[in-house]
Amino acid sequence: EETGKSGYDHYMLKEIHEQPRALRQCLQGRVDELGGEVLLDELGALDPDTVQFVACGTSYHAALYGAQLFRSIGIPAQAFIASEYATSVPPIENDLVIGVTQSGETADTLSALREARHRGAKTLAVTNVVGSTAARECDEALYIRAGPEIGVAATKTFASQLITLSLLTLHLNGSEDDRDVIAGLRDLPSNVQAILDDTNAREIAEEYHDSDAYFFIGRGLHHPVALEGALKFKEISYEHAEGFPAGELKHGPLALVTENTPVFAVVTGDGEQARKTIGNVKEVEARDAPVIAVTDGASDVERYADHVLEIPESTPRTAALLANVQLQLVSYHAAALLDRPIDKPRNLAKSVTVE
Ligand code: G6P
Repeated sequence: EETGKSGYDHYMLKEIHEQPRALRQCLQGRVDELGGEVLLDELGALDPDTVQFVACGTSYHAALYGAQLFRSIGIPAQAFIASEYATSVPPIENDLVIGVTQSGETADTLSALREARHRGAKTLAVTNVVGSTAARECDEALYIRAGPEIGVAATKTFASQLITLSLLTLHLNGSEDDRDVIAGLRDLPSNVQAILDDTNAREIAEEYHDSDAYFFIGRGLHHPVALEGALKFKEISYEHAEGFPAGELKHGPLALVTENTPVFAVVTGDGEQARKTIGNVKEVEARDAPVIAVTDGASDVERYADHVLEIPESTPRTAALLANVQLQLVSYHAAALLDRPIDKPRNLAKSVTVE
């Protein structure tokens, strides 16, 4: 079952549908149901002063998400594109450099991790592949347990990276206050399943798949989701797509917005961030751009949207992952309607072993 397409037209669609199982595998034995505690037995003692992430492509978007989670527990953290790591402030003894890499073989990421070790940092590989170069070379390895991914465009492994980074911060934080967050993680596989069982992503793709360009916006934890939504879209549909932090739209990209550039806006909850992103949605709506809101229905964003991609109510960190599932599906269906070779997009490789 792991190697065939199991009746799906493409590995990508199969892997999107494997997410509930991948997430269950990732959580298995790592969450103490009774104590509400996260246990990552495979890790040695970690108590970093600061954290630097290095990663490429989709894994970099997971790193941006991970860095925000670390900052939220009071540990300064920053994500670097691995090939740009040389410009970072050198880590010192009690700093941790985390390489996020599905394959564990990406040359840019391996090279940044080697540089980090050379500079004296402790290194941790967050990877899918047991025994990969990153796992072997780093001081510590934490596995995302997604199972093999064949499609070049990363899908289930991104979801598993997010949840693994979430587990890592919960493990380090060890606070009683995290019970709700942990409960949110436990609900995640069934919430993803609910989206897969009842999504209108195909209809959205049908309506918009011959647009001029596609924009994706989100704030906070939804910023990496906006970037990932756009990356997935361009990788497999070959259409021009860009992701932006919602607040940055007005500082340039807004000039590109027309009635023929759909804007996907990720808005969940009804707090300050949602309110501000809705303000940005109004700006694009005023330029006649079609707006597709990816939302849990907690705010009134629907009033300003042409379409809604619904996600179940959840915690902020799980909402990011759920919103991403809807965006994966839109990309998949748009690429399928355009008849693209979804599992093997031109010019791209699953694992890039040159710098
Ligand atoms: C390639 C793939 C991307 C992937 C990136 C990083 O460019 O096409 O989908 O995100 O490598 O891969 P890694 O294995 O390090 O996560």
